[in-house]
Amino acid sequence: MTPFRQALCAFTLAATLASPPAHADEIAKGRALAERLCASCHMGRDQGEKKSANEIPGFHAVARRPDQTIEGIVAWLRSVPPMMPDHHLTQDEMSALANFIMSLRGAPQ
Ligand code: HEC
Repeated sequence: MTPFRQALCAFTLAATLASPPAHADEIAKGRALAERLCASCHMGRDQGEKKSANEIPGFHAVARRPDQTIEGIVAWLRSVPPMMPDHHLTQDEMSALANFIMSLRGAPQ
């Protein structure tokens, strides 16, 4: 490796380590929105999956559903479901919320 390549390599590595994954901002934005708008229903302590028709699932449980995807959550929010308040979310907000919820998939409850 030439010194130039070596320097380039070190620079690239440093840049990669320094910058968080591209969607970290999205997740942080989603978390802030969720804490403001959704926490009263979905972020209770130890709140898990709903066990009967009129319960509300916690976000960890929603994220862990086997077929769950970011797109699926966005589609749910876009449908403005009647059992949830209409928060008049923008497309960006829906996407940030979905990224935040899916980030909980592997996280401890
Ligand atoms: C007033 C309580 C309430 C608030 C506030 C609320 N939700 Fe919900 N949410 C519900 C209920 C009730 C369900 C369960 C619906 C069902 O399973 O029939 C639900 C279900 C969901 C689901 C699961 C959808 C699925 O596929 O079953 C998601 C995702 C969700 N909410 C996201 C959000 C987000 C994001 C916010 C904040 C912007 C929010 N909710 C605010 C009551 C609420």
